[in-house]
Amino acid sequence: MINLLGISGSLRAGSLNRRLLELADELADDRAKIVVSDLLAIPLYNPDVEAIGTPDSVTDLKNRIAESDGVLFACPAYYASMSGALKNAIDWICRTPEPARGSSVLGGKPVAVLGGGGGGGTITAQDHLKQILTVIGADLMQEPVLDYAQISDRVDDNGVLKGSDDRNQLSEFITSFLDHVGRADKP
Ligand SMILES: Cc1cc2nc3c(=O)[nH]c(=O)nc-3n(C[C@H](O)[C@H](O)[C@H](O)COP(=O)(O)O)c2cc1C
Repeated sequence: MINLLGISGSLRAGSLNRRLLELADELADDRAKIVVSDLLAIPLYNPDVEAIGTPDSVTDLKNRIAESDGVLFACPAYYASMSGALKNAIDWICRTPEPARGSSVLGGKPVAVLGGGGGGGTITAQDHLKQILTVIGADLMQEPVLDYAQISDRVDDNGVLKGSDDRNQLSEFITSFLDHVGRADKP
């Protein structure tokens, strides 16, 4: 069983990006477990706070990442970029304890990005996130790209993707990521 951590860039309770991670977990069946972690407790990054000590919420998130076989990011579009909450969390987890490039808990970690947004979609937002993940040395899955523009129209009242094409794309995406994680496991 592959153990993945899902991180949604949206803080809202009804987040459809969080929902995508839950749906991905269902589609992974017994091949993987995706535990979804939220970013509600992560404070704003501040080097002065960092100098005193890493907040428990940040340490907890870092531990969850370290213990996972891979991280799946669900990235909403906020003015064509990732949310501030997601960027802030990455600042924390990659700065501490060693700020050097590639030495963070995400260094070498298999990661993938998908996203649900409004009418403009999440491609540009995802690209910004992917740039950062590349800079910090994560093992980024480049393809396939999965973007659900106008995601609120694509889900029913239970947050389930209505279209079979949309469901199939998510299924293929998670299968690709499990392959990516499996390849990373091999020496
Ligand atoms: C501050 C803000 C900026 C947004 N900017 C964009 C945007 O540039 N492009 C887009 O497609 N959707 C944009 N949206 C819509 C969100 O991406 C969309 O509502 C998405 O579903 C939010 O994710 P969530 O459902 O996980 O909370 C924006 C929403 C907010 C709150």
